Amino acid sequence: MRLLVCGGAGFIGSTFVRQRVREHGDTVTVLDKLTYAGREENLADLAGDERYRFLKGAIEDPAALDAAIAAGEPAAIVNFAAETHVDRSIAEPDAFVKTHALGTYALLEAARARELRYLQVSTDEVYGSIDVGTFTEESPLRPSSPYSATKTGADLLVQSYFHTYGLPAMIVRGSNNYGPYQYPEKLIPLMILNALHGDPLPVYGDGMQVRNWIHSTDFARAIGHVLEHGEVGEVYNAGGPDEETNIEVVRRIIELTGASEAQIEHVVDRPGHDRRYSLSSERISELGWEPHVRFHRGLAETVEWYRDNEWWWGPIRSGEYREYYARQYGQQLGLPK
Ligand code: NAD
Ligand code: TYD
Repeated sequence: MRLLVCGGAGFIGSTFVRQRVREHGDTVTVLDKLTYAGREENLADLAGDERYRFLKGAIEDPAALDAAIAAGEPAAIVNFAAETHVDRSIAEPDAFVKTHALGTYALLEAARARELRYLQVSTDEVYGSIDVGTFTEESPLRPSSPYSATKTGADLLVQSYFHTYGLPAMIVRGSNNYGPYQYPEKLIPLMILNALHGDPLPVYGDGMQVRNWIHSTDFARAIGHVLEHGEVGEVYNAGGPDEETNIEVVRRIIELTGASEAQIEHVVDRPGHDRRYSLSSERISELGWEPHVRFHRGLAETVEWYRDNEWWWGPIRSGEYREYYARQYGQQLGLPK
């Protein structure tokens, strides 16, 4: 298959691109704006492979889309491009509205003009929080943060292009991802790197919020599976096999890194913090997908990956991320040891 992968230089996008090129022999063009979270280094291992091409550009820029489609001649577009951190969406929502609303619109127009298959990568956060039970694809959409509200808007626009113009579009909604190459603003890599550096481990509120964890290789495979076997016009949830409270995740990271419980700091809670996410993945399991990586093993491997790959996180932890961290947490990160 020939694919245009937007946002392919990010955490999950790069995992997907690696899988498609290496395991499926696809030819992939990546279009990515390279925001703070996007890094060509995430795909350094594919550099020089003739099945992979990288172009820098924004999805909200029709000229960049035209150039990427002309260069890659894709049969399908897969859209990972997004602003992805809830805390940043609370502090500065502008880029979320621009990328999710205008960017998705420009991409849909480009796909419509050429009758391309289109897959939108989305999130369980569009359903909001659930105290008991799990969300199915028919659950009402009740997003609570600027991140999830703008992702929901993008999903609705994608569905309107299927209903109105017959665009062969699909949506895959994932639960919380973890694994190698995740930017350290997110819970798991933040806690691993702080634990390894002797920094405080900032737990929001009581730490009893629950997340449904899926390894990024499982989620990337779910997206490829839907692209190949999914029905157009459908939404597919892809949830991980395990749910954990945040405090349990932090305790496990402390064990795996040899850090100290005394590093845990209960800090002011995130405004509007969703208590629990949980996804039912029955529809996609009927298509033949299931997650392979259980959380215990995946977390241990992820800790090892961060231990072994300072070349990847070293420049992040000494760059923009330090300033973000000071703004968000009101304290400086420790210097590398
Ligand atoms: P990420 O922040 O690591 O990567 C996002 C990528 O998109 C970056 O490479 C960035 O440069 C690029 N990008 C941002 N705005 C762009 C624009 N306007 N034009 C072109 N490129 C742009 O994110 P991620 O965690 O890999 O998430 C990828 C997708 O998966 C997102 O759509 C996200 O909503 C969804 N998702 C993420 C999770 C999760 O737990 N991380 C869970 C479910 C769904
Ligand atoms: P996060 O990784 O930001 O993902 P999301 O908000 O999309 O679920 O956060 C996961 C959970 O961890 C969430 O309940 C918020 C919590 N959290 C903390 O307690 N401390 C932190 O420093 C961060 C970043 C998150």
